[in-house]
Amino acid sequence: MDWTPRRAVEADVPALEALIGMSVRGLHGPYYSPAQIDASIGTVFGVDRQLVEDGTYFVVESGGAPFGCGGWSRRAALCGSDSLRTGRDPEVDPRTDPARVRAFFVHPSWVRRGIGASIMALCEREIAEAGFTTVLIMATLPGVPLYLSFGYAETGRVLVDMPGGQSIETVRMEKTLPRTPGRAA
Ligand SMILES: CC(C)(COP(=O)(O)OP(=O)(O)OC[C@H]1O[C@@H](n2cnc3c(N)ncnc32)[C@H](O)[C@@H]1OP(=O)(O)O)[C@@H](O)C(=O)NCCC(=O)NCCS
Repeated sequence: MDWTPRRAVEADVPALEALIGMSVRGLHGPYYSPAQIDASIGTVFGVDRQLVEDGTYFVVESGGAPFGCGGWSRRAALCGSDSLRTGRDPEVDPRTDPARVRAFFVHPSWVRRGIGASIMALCEREIAEAGFTTVLIMATLPGVPLYLSFGYAETGRVLVDMPGGQSIETVRMEKTLPRTPGRAA
């Protein structure tokens, strides 16, 4: 099967929102409570249309149905769907700031087949081409192994507040890009 990601477009957003909900409900159970999962979908976990608009969000699909998505950002937001934001997300400076890796979600039936890795490799290539030398991720607990496999290191834990008084633990992960981006050896 070919996992070649393509750029997401606005018309993908409803299907991607559905995919993200299925991914979170299917894969977050061992890490977060049902109340945290309910509060996270459509708020912390959802599509950030700014990335779609920027052309930095990708989808992997089969037969017209998406089963993986993820992307990167040249902007300030570290996580969250655009439902949490008012106004435009400002760009950061590639010479001094890290690029962001954002919102990776794979359908529970399709995990561990290299889909997340295929999107990560593409993101790192584009991040380097955009002039960034460092990358920052606010990872979910289940997302950590994917980013570790690409050589990211944990630099802290951050509680992200959600509507309804819930919060979830995320892991701040950082990497300085090698001359040739890709997975750790
Ligand atoms: C995190 C996620 C996107 C990974 O997607 P994936 O397509 O399954 O990842 P890949 O198959 O490309 O995995 C690449 C490597 O990452 C590591 N990895 C990924 N998932 C792992 C897991 N559950 N346990 C251990 N290692 C894992 C492995 O090193 C793997 O390589 P290998 O399979 O050759 O050992 C997916 O598990 C997911 O959607 N999780 C729920 C949503 C989420 O929390 N996303 C992260 C947001 S920050």
